[in-house]
Amino acid sequence: MLLLSVATVLVVLTSSTAVQAQGLEAGVGYADITGPAGEVPMMGYAEASQKTAGIHMRLFARAFAFRDAEGRSAAFVNVDAGMISPMMKLKVIEILKSKLGSTYTEANVLLSATHTHSGPGGYHGYTLYAISTLGYFADTFNTLANGIARSIELAHASLRPTKLQFNSGQLANSGVNRSPTSYLLNPESERARYEHNTDRDMTVVKLVDANSGKPFGMLNWFAVHPTSMNNTNLLISGDNKGWAAQAFERFMDYQAGTNTLPGGQRFVASFANANEGDVSPNTDGPRCMDTGEPCDIATSTCGGKAKHCVASGPGKDMLDSTRIIGLKQFGRAMELFDSAKEELAVDSVSYSHQYVDMSNQQLTVNGRRVRTCPPAMGFSFAAGTTDGPGGFDFTQGDTSGNPFWNLVRGILSKPNQEQINCHSPKPILLNTGYMTFPTDWQPKVIETQLLKIGPLVIVALPGEFTTMSGRRVREAVQKALADNGMTGAKVVLSGVSNLYSSYVTTFEEYQAQRYEAASTIFGPHTLSAYVQQFGKLAAALATNTAVQSEIHPPNNLGSIKGWSFVSPIVYDSVGINRNFGDVVQQPASSYSAGQTVSAKFRTGHPRNNMMLGGTFLLVQKKTENGGWVDICNDACVETRFSWVRTNGVLGRSEAHIEWDIPACAQPGIYRLKHFGWYKPVLIWESPKSFSGTTNEFTVKNSSLRRFLRRTGYTIDVINGKIGGGCLL
Ligand SMILES: *[C@@H]1O[C@H](CO)[C@@H](O)[C@H](O)[C@H]1NC(C)=O
Ligand SMILES: *[C@@H]1O[C@H](CO)[C@@H](O)[C@H](O)[C@H]1NC(C)=O
Repeated sequence: MLLLSVATVLVVLTSSTAVQAQGLEAGVGYADITGPAGEVPMMGYAEASQKTAGIHMRLFARAFAFRDAEGRSAAFVNVDAGMISPMMKLKVIEILKSKLGSTYTEANVLLSATHTHSGPGGYHGYTLYAISTLGYFADTFNTLANGIARSIELAHASLRPTKLQFNSGQLANSGVNRSPTSYLLNPESERARYEHNTDRDMTVVKLVDANSGKPFGMLNWFAVHPTSMNNTNLLISGDNKGWAAQAFERFMDYQAGTNTLPGGQRFVASFANANEGDVSPNTDGPRCMDTGEPCDIATSTCGGKAKHCVASGPGKDMLDSTRIIGLKQFGRAMELFDSAKEELAVDSVSYSHQYVDMSNQQLTVNGRRVRTCPPAMGFSFAAGTTDGPGGFDFTQGDTSGNPFWNLVRGILSKPNQEQINCHSPKPILLNTGYMTFPTDWQPKVIETQLLKIGPLVIVALPGEFTTMSGRRVREAVQKALADNGMTGAKVVLSGVSNLYSSYVTTFEEYQAQRYEAASTIFGPHTLSAYVQQFGKLAAALATNTAVQSEIHPPNNLGSIKGWSFVSPIVYDSVGINRNFGDVVQQPASSYSAGQTVSAKFRTGHPRNNMMLGGTFLLVQKKTENGGWVDICNDACVETRFSWVRTNGVLGRSEAHIEWDIPACAQPGIYRLKHFGWYKPVLIWESPKSFSGTTNEFTVKNSSLRRFLRRTGYTIDVINGKIGGGCLL
């Protein structure tokens, strides 16, 4: 106790001097975490047929390091991945420890996933989340762990005196509540305090170099699912969040006169998620794919079946929707960034962190003693959502069960009466809390964390919180901070952080048992337990009291490692008198902006070399003296590298390369290049590199203005030349 008060006095003393000295240092870093681009199941939709086959955009870990005048550090990383897993975070900390000692720990590093559904899987240690990815896959796991650690190292190495400027505002028409009937079950008095059934708040923090006055980074939070790319997409993609981040970085680099391609960015922009649990980017809403009619709203079915009820829009296809929802986030972020004036006085950098057993929390709700339950998933979980319906004929809002699954479930683990009562009214499909083979099916020990950068308090949500759930957590944190003397805090929710534990709905939403409720794994009081826990962490943060963890999550890496069913690459071949890199389909001789150039090459398996930090393609433009300048690579949102198997037995495949010519493209002579590696038929030989080049083609002049108006953003901001080429 004495020690604590001495520490508090020290903080008070240093904070008054720190205000003058501007004690805060910050740094940014990023690393390529694209991972294996061929035949690896993607993580997100749990759709078995959705395996990687190329790249739409590269994925990045974007890190922000902070250090106060006392040398206390913290790091926030926005990761272009579906989720974070505890074993991944532990590995990141282990790597950092070997390089930077004890500067970064589990407690002061916050890893937030964007929750893109188009990244390779294989990094989960809990069985339920590993089933659809065919278990563990080392290439994905290592790429993520090494990349995230590297991004933090780079951010740490670039620490410099920094000023933070804050802004927030609303962004409309970029998401819809996909379980609106559940939302309506929340108390009317509570709903009356909010205008909309999704949070439209966007938060922006601008990082400005205190010496040069130049901005070098941006943190952004906005709640929306990155499911603009649907479950038929096979190209690795950052989805709408990745699109927004790339646009922001390319634009900032262009403005600063550093015309780099994506992957070589200087400015780092993070578009993180928030309470996106029930927020779909498919703003045209769900329709029956077979009839075009609206779905049944309470169950999200068409003729009683979930699989035909799919949400889409606002674009003409999923790439267009990704662009539109990405552009909206980018555009609003840029406005808020440009007008961010409120300076955050950073007195200290600190954190509050604790592992808790969420399967057994006791709490009092409305004067009643209640508890959380060991994990279980309800029947509606298997129905999926309108962003990606499940393959089984389950429907959302099922409270009775299905006899076939009752049987299968019985074989897996039959819930006892206590567990059934605990989860009621959820009918239990998977009694995951009691399923431990080959590893625990779902987590019980949950990491809870708050990071404090001066008045900015970041809440690490350990799963997908619905709109109202997030609001309750934010309010509880705000109140606990204020009650303990920290007024004026800016509390932001950071979604899908540190681990994945499926969804969290409110008690009221839970009663309807739609997908999000069926996936609320610790029972009806899950949210109340989180509200209590985050309130406790906030009080500790405000009073500078250390919180200890009495338990720790298991590191499942050792036990999941042996469960790896992704098929290996045997060999690649092209046949007699043919070469890897041969162009089998040339582009046309001339194009206009707005058209798509395409070419096909003979290629090898993309997993022979993941090309981290490199590229499978280049768009090049001829210079006046006959040389070539790179216009875009495979990270660019306007290019696509698709890997197509043409003959599995003979090991033949093609690379289909496409470039959507932006309206702002400079007229001139262009060509496409493809880079790859093949595995020789003599299987003891190691992979060899090759490249191929198309014929030249012409891009004609076009009218830039018309196109930019259609995007709905001002011509001044996007004047058409972003990052070595142009983007829109
Ligand atoms: C996915 O989007 C494409 C358009 O890009 C569309 O043709 C397809 O029907 C959609 N599929 C699903 C299951 O949403
Ligand atoms: C392209 O078109 C624009 C307007 O349509 C014109 O201003 C510009 O000079 C043209 N550029 C070339 C290289 O022809």
